[in-house]
Amino acid sequence: MTQVPDPADPQAPEGVDLERPNAARIYDWFLGGTANWAIDREFGERAVKTFPTIKSIAQLGRQFLGRGVEYMARQGIDQFLDLGSGVPTVGNVHEIAVSVNPDARCVYVDNEPVAVAHSQILLEREGVADRHAVIHGDLRQPGEIWPRALDTGVLDPKRPIGLIMCGVLYFVGPDEDALGIVRKYLSLVPSGSYFFASHLTLDGVKSPDEDSREAIREQYKQSSTPFHHRTREEFTEFFDGLELVKPGVTWVPEWHPDEAASRLINRIAEDPSFSGGLGAMGRKP
Ligand SMILES: C[S@@+](CC[C@H](N)C(=O)[O-])C[C@H]1O[C@@H](n2cnc3c(N)ncnc32)[C@H](O)[C@@H]1O
Repeated sequence: MTQVPDPADPQAPEGVDLERPNAARIYDWFLGGTANWAIDREFGERAVKTFPTIKSIAQLGRQFLGRGVEYMARQGIDQFLDLGSGVPTVGNVHEIAVSVNPDARCVYVDNEPVAVAHSQILLEREGVADRHAVIHGDLRQPGEIWPRALDTGVLDPKRPIGLIMCGVLYFVGPDEDALGIVRKYLSLVPSGSYFFASHLTLDGVKSPDEDSREAIREQYKQSSTPFHHRTREEFTEFFDGLELVKPGVTWVPEWHPDEAASRLINRIAEDPSFSGGLGAMGRKP
């Protein structure tokens, strides 16, 4: 049985780098999870000071992942390879896929041991061994990851696969041939497969807080996981040779927005009484 790495335990679990904050654990903290250590939380708090919307942006990314998995599952994709899967939180790939197709399969890959251990525990608890697996590995090594993913026995390489790289390609440095890595995976998956990804950019960002976005990037250089922005053109290149699902390359919240949730938000912005809920707080004098 896998042991949950416990942030209350002063002893660093084997393989977990507690010298430096790490993106998987910081992201978990942004999303309200508990698989993070003081060093990650302190880093996260500084990030929020620099860029106050960062937690909401993390949530937008997570919701995007969920909508994409649901879309692929509705197109009949029933097996997923989630590269840079993160610490499991609300709406994990296998859970969303199974909600559409109970027979859906998923292999998770992450290079952060805490994310892998938590995924392992979740899968032991609710997964079915022949349909779900997690691999501790580096997605920048497709030649190693692909056979290991197949060795799990979860994926059938002859049938279409949903290949997911959400919120992770920006950890692949500008000198590391991210395009070559993506192309390698795309050459391995069969026809009919989907590639679903998101990426941070400064290209076309209209908001005046662009400087704080750059400051966040600077701050991440102190973590074990620095990140890099890419332009829209660079991101679009990842999809060369694929049929782009409408609406194509777009801002994350605009990609297949959850119509029901958006309608509700708009309705409530027009008429808060529509919520039918009253709220208050009192302080005893
Ligand atoms: C921001 S989280 C995104 C998690 C999830 N994909 C999502 O969209 O909610 C990025 C994850 O990618 C992982 N990661 C970063 N570089 C990686 C690499 N080279 N190989 C595997 N995983 C990596 C991190 O450990 C982290 O868990």
